[in-house]
Amino acid sequence: MEERPEERKAGINDEMLTEIRLAAQMILSGELVGFPTETVYGLGANALDMEAVKKIYAAKGRPSDNPLIIHVCDIKMAESVVELNWRARFLMDTFWPGPLSLVLKAKGTIPHVTRGGLDTAAVRMPDNAIALELIRAAGVPIAAPSANRSGRPSPTDAATVREDIGDAVLMVLDGGPTKVGLESTVLDVSGESPMLLRPGGISKEDIEGALHIPVLLPTDGDPLKRSPGTRYRHYAPKIPLIMTDDPCDTEAGGKKWAWIGTSEPTGSPFIKIIFKDTEEYAKELFRVLRLIEKSGAEIIIAQIPDETGIGRALKDRLVRASGI
Ligand code: TXA
Ligand code: MG
Repeated sequence: MEERPEERKAGINDEMLTEIRLAAQMILSGELVGFPTETVYGLGANALDMEAVKKIYAAKGRPSDNPLIIHVCDIKMAESVVELNWRARFLMDTFWPGPLSLVLKAKGTIPHVTRGGLDTAAVRMPDNAIALELIRAAGVPIAAPSANRSGRPSPTDAATVREDIGDAVLMVLDGGPTKVGLESTVLDVSGESPMLLRPGGISKEDIEGALHIPVLLPTDGDPLKRSPGTRYRHYAPKIPLIMTDDPCDTEAGGKKWAWIGTSEPTGSPFIKIIFKDTEEYAKELFRVLRLIEKSGAEIIIAQIPDETGIGRALKDRLVRASGI
């Protein structure tokens, strides 16, 4: 097969290109495909095909009122599904491709099932060559939640996708481990003031720096109505997780404990995983949670990260994993 120069540049070889084209055909025939993004792996379906999108909810065991993010390969495709305003355009120019999902007024082209019955929809252009080529080859926007069973940590490699939802997908495109490791930021820009519905790969500070106005947090508004995903417990490992600034044996209550964080614990953990910085802590969190579950540890004690940059998203995921 002939390789086009831009594909070589993006690091996609002939074999992968063939797989991507096959995956695009599957998307167009209403099937589900697992694919990498820069954040976590997604479980994709044609966003315009109601029946295909229903299969996503079934495969994940996801409540039908929790809307999906619509993945696009350029701003023009975004414009075919949502009403753009100047602020959204500016954010797209600044942060796309990248881990920023923008909630905007939906156009009639997007079936209600894709947007969980809301009159808005979230769009994002992922910063991953395989994902972008898949969307381009399919020629339709791809609705994709994280490719885990509902309530489990998001998958950051192809093997985990197969383990969680392997029977629901015919094909998982393997792009290796993901770069960011936590999901995209979800920002509502459909109203007067931008509101951060889910912290993620692009920080609140980055967005405020670009827009020169404050970004509201859900506590300032009505989180339950505006961000359906926050209603559900997420990212839960199979053993309990607690958060602390001051790790020691007593907190584990006599159980075999696993420590994760950026500094040394003071007690004697059964396993410890020390990350070099907050970025690495964020990138590895989901993978490490799944590893620890299988290790024989009985409880996970996680260091509370600083709430700057990716730290805000990391803390959010830890809080949800702890079920607080
Ligand atoms: O990084 C990511 O965003 C990954 C990759 C695959 O792109 N996707 C992902 O999707 O995390 P999911 O379905 O696991 O999370 C989507 C979040 C949910 O919290 C959902 O409620 C919110 O986005 N969301 C989607 N559409 C929305 C809308 N119209 N209004 C408010 N929140 C919305
Ligand atoms: Mg998810």
